[in-house]
Amino acid sequence: MDVANAYTALDVAFKFGPPLSYLVFFNILIYHLRPDIVDEKNRPKNVPAINLDSREYDFVVVGAGAAGCVIANRLTENANWTVLLLEAGGEEPYYTDVPATYLSQQRSDLDWNFEAEPSTTYCKGMTGNRCRVPRGKALGGSSTINSMLYVRGNRRDYDGWRDQGNPGWGYEDVLPYFTKSENVTIGGLRGSRYHGTRGYLGVDYFRFTSGMAEYFLEAGRQLGFQVVDTNGESQLGFTLPQLTLTNGLKATASKAFLRPAARRKNFFLSARSMVHKVIVDRKTGTAEGVRFRRGGKMYTVRARKEVILSAGAIQSPQLLMLSGIGPRKHLEEMGIPVVQERCGVGRNFQDHALIGGLVFLMDAPPPESDPNITDAENSAAARRFLEDNEGPMMDLPEIEGMAFVNSRFTTPDYPDIQFLFGPQGDNLGGDFYPRRNGGIRKEVYDSLFKGVEDIRSFRIPATILRPKSRGYVELRSADPEEHPVIVPKFFDDPMDLELLVEGTYMAEKVSRTPSMRRFKPRLNSNPISPECAKFPFFSRDYLRCHARYYTQTAEHPSCTCRMGPADDPMAVVDPRLRVYGIKNLRVIDASIMPNITSGNTYAPAMMIGEKGADLIKEDHGARR
Ligand SMILES: Cc1cc2nc3c(=O)[nH]c(=O)nc-3n(C[C@H](O)[C@H](O)[C@H](O)COP(=O)(O)OP(=O)(O)OC[C@H]3O[C@@H](n4cnc5c(N)ncnc54)[C@H](O)[C@@H]3O)c2cc1C
Ligand SMILES: *[C@@H]1O[C@H](CO)[C@@H](O)[C@H](O)[C@H]1NC(C)=O
Ligand SMILES: *[C@@H]1O[C@H](CO)[C@@H](O)[C@H](O)[C@H]1NC(C)=O
Ligand SMILES: *[C@@H]1O[C@H](CO)[C@@H](O)[C@H](O)[C@H]1NC(C)=O
Ligand SMILES: *[C@@H]1O[C@H](CO)[C@@H](O)[C@H](O)[C@H]1NC(C)=O
Repeated sequence: MDVANAYTALDVAFKFGPPLSYLVFFNILIYHLRPDIVDEKNRPKNVPAINLDSREYDFVVVGAGAAGCVIANRLTENANWTVLLLEAGGEEPYYTDVPATYLSQQRSDLDWNFEAEPSTTYCKGMTGNRCRVPRGKALGGSSTINSMLYVRGNRRDYDGWRDQGNPGWGYEDVLPYFTKSENVTIGGLRGSRYHGTRGYLGVDYFRFTSGMAEYFLEAGRQLGFQVVDTNGESQLGFTLPQLTLTNGLKATASKAFLRPAARRKNFFLSARSMVHKVIVDRKTGTAEGVRFRRGGKMYTVRARKEVILSAGAIQSPQLLMLSGIGPRKHLEEMGIPVVQERCGVGRNFQDHALIGGLVFLMDAPPPESDPNITDAENSAAARRFLEDNEGPMMDLPEIEGMAFVNSRFTTPDYPDIQFLFGPQGDNLGGDFYPRRNGGIRKEVYDSLFKGVEDIRSFRIPATILRPKSRGYVELRSADPEEHPVIVPKFFDDPMDLELLVEGTYMAEKVSRTPSMRRFKPRLNSNPISPECAKFPFFSRDYLRCHARYYTQTAEHPSCTCRMGPADDPMAVVDPRLRVYGIKNLRVIDASIMPNITSGNTYAPAMMIGEKGADLIKEDHGARR
């Protein structure tokens, strides 16, 4: 299809097509008009299947996600080593580079489309009472479908990891690994000791925004907070979000780390390759390789030095259990021979919960003619993007502002609440994405937004940063292709819900600052359900009830293969990320966090990849 025809089809798709049909033509137009995105010569090539069977590599890395891409890059820096990277998903499509397509990426073939087990205490507003658990399935892993926030967490998170018996993981130990990855292009941060300028990963602000974050930052000042680099000296404060962007486009882990390594002779990639298990010699307790399926055929590859699991916090524990490493009783129930009993595998699941669906309706919105407050999914925006790399498609209006604040339960140096400011609330744009991505039931959506569908709005969801509840991941069966059982146990510890309510009250205070009052905001007071309508709107009881219906998370599952000292029975890996009881096997991804970080988890997962790669180099006597 040529450019003119693709443009015509794009216009038709935007006007009449089912939602998202435009992406087909948008992708074609990117192919013709945006060689920078197509980036043909730098994308890694798939190893022909015929070259795979019974091969040996020094390292076999499972999962090309945030951590796996970093590891593949760093290990292949050593020309003496061969590395095979196995990834279940395929290459990332062109359109995921475009920030505004974020919502379209979930519930697609780029997403594993996991769902949690039904719950009577959270996700009650969702079809089947099941929370959706999006996870990326493509080169780049979850970084290919994520919302690009570049957040490292709090220095005390890492000092806490160290003090729990993990030497080498304190803040000053890990800071060099954050900066090593980074190429910050935000002017004011380039000289900072907290930022790097020579790494592979671009960090920048959005090229285009509604401009409304200025009012949000001003509101922060009026509440006594400072506008700071929340990845710098102090996390407390308000900020424009730092984002993983290169030239304004999404910097997936694959783009940042695999493409620079793609032409190394010792780097081998096999995508669309679903790993079924790690092969462990039971006599010696040594990981020898992995078994995987590509297309309709099974393959076995051997690792001369190590197997590294970087399959993420849902699937690294799943793979360990499929390989006989995990809680004895559960493995026996599944009919899997126990190779190594490790009761912490899949346990200690943590994620960052928030309350969805609260919006501030504006009686005095910024002028409608404001060119910045426009829907990005239309022909004009697509043309601006394709031809000039600018316009509303370079924005993600959900996250134009951010803040870390402390509730009365903590000290200012250790914020426990994160705000994300979005100049468009969920009442706008219809129920398509809330239902498709969030799984919100129609009657729940209607109950919330009936009569306010067209009123301009903003939102400031509060996230709790250090949940006390702990969930788990288990096998559903011994079939490696079956989705695992995911039980997040949100609000299992009542303090989590208390803090979430507290944070929501704090967010509401932002809306009452002089800075925000210019828009005459008022909370949309339609109750979410008859059950919650029994409570006065916005009372603590109401918010608890609402949170149990519209339970959302920042999509940060972690801690399911937690790192810890030898005397910690729940630890799965040691502080060098080696699986206890098994030789030549490491887990290196977000699952090794002993406690979830106080912020988004993409940057921490890459840091874990950087540090993990250095630990491997050390252990094999190679230069770092
Ligand atoms: C919708 C969404 C939005 C998010 N937004 C943000 C954000 O704005 N900022 C932020 O910091 N974080 C965000 N995150 C979280 C962040 O992306 C993850 O924490 C991070 O990517 C985790 O890295 P990982 O390496 O542990 O796992 P992943 O990046 O998930 O990578 C795991 C990889 O392993 C592959 N894999 C799994 N099982 C197998 C198997 N059996 N065989 C072969 N391959 C396998 C997967 O396909 C995947 O590619 C978001 C996540 C999602 C889903
Ligand atoms: C950092 O990003 C800038 C802007 O995109 C680019 O010009 C520069 O080459 C990058 N530096 C590195 C080391 O990649
Ligand atoms: C629109 O966005 C651009 C780029 O972010 C910004 O320079 C401009 O000030 C914004 N306009 C308004 C009215 O906020
Ligand atoms: C970290 O995890 C441990 C063990 O689960 C827990 O006791 C501790 O309170 C957690 N620390 C924080 C700061 O949440
Ligand atoms: C690769 O091997 C050679 C020869 O054994 C050795 O001299 C060199 O230091 C090794 N390279 C690295 C990066 O370890």
